[in-house]
Amino acid sequence: MVPIKELLRGAEIHCQTSGRPLVTLTYAQSLDGCIALERGKPLALSGPESLRMTHQLRAAHQAILVGVGTVLADNPRLTVRLVAGESPQPVILDSQLRTPPEANLFRGEHQPWVITGENPDPHKASQLSSAGARLLPFQLDDSGLLPLPSVLAHLANLGIQTLMVEGGARVITAFLESQLVDRIVLTIAPAITGGLHAVEGLTSAHAGNSSAAPNFLRLHDPGYERLGDDLILWGSLLH
Ligand SMILES: NC(=O)c1ccc[n+]([C@@H]2O[C@H](COP(=O)([O-])OP(=O)(O)OC[C@H]3O[C@@H](n4cnc5c(N)ncnc54)[C@H](OP(=O)(O)O)[C@@H]3O)[C@@H](O)[C@H]2O)c1
Repeated sequence: MVPIKELLRGAEIHCQTSGRPLVTLTYAQSLDGCIALERGKPLALSGPESLRMTHQLRAAHQAILVGVGTVLADNPRLTVRLVAGESPQPVILDSQLRTPPEANLFRGEHQPWVITGENPDPHKASQLSSAGARLLPFQLDDSGLLPLPSVLAHLANLGIQTLMVEGGARVITAFLESQLVDRIVLTIAPAITGGLHAVEGLTSAHAGNSSAAPNFLRLHDPGYERLGDDLILWGSLLH
């Protein structure tokens, strides 16, 4: 069994000392590290047992975050349905308010928090607010993206101590690049798909690397379990 409680133990103290929630990165990938056949297209990789585990994981976190690319591709609900438990607070990274007001996200127990740019388009803002979204504006960083450290600090101020990050590729890469991932729970499906890789190149992780002294992001004391045909791998990231 994935030791979800143990993985999240100490989240409160972590939040107090770091000023941000404990972040669990989780997604399903093929053997060759892909999460979709191509960007923008959904791909069901997890078997039923791993999907149940993902819902257990959702129920154990206070909030769940995805990028707007995933909202547009998968139209996810981000709720807990396959096990008992409360659904986490959905949080979307969406600087241009591309989230459709009719998205499935608006059908859950909690209305989504949409993290967006400083001066959002008033029409889109009013449409999403009417649908129930709470808009949280941030000044974009130099790359035109939402500033993850400030966003996480704000989520901590709103009382979020545990955050599950479910994708997609740009968000996974950005969280790893910024060294903002504390735990990983990965579903590995026994399929070779080709396609969109989960991690799209990590500049910071390669800094100072040499073949003599490789310096990669690594899981400390990883655990493994077979669920149906899938392999689940979990652990804490060393920073
Ligand atoms: N297998 C799995 O477990 C799994 C899980 C989730 C998704 N997916 C797949 O992943 C694909 C979507 O991935 P994606 O890479 O296209 O989109 P994504 O990572 O879901 O969303 C990326 C978008 O989020 C916004 N964003 C704002 N600030 C950001 C920041 N600091 N860092 C990163 N993103 C930020 C950007 O859009 P703006 O510039 O408009 O703000 C960016 O283009 C889909 O094909 C989906 O099916 C697979």
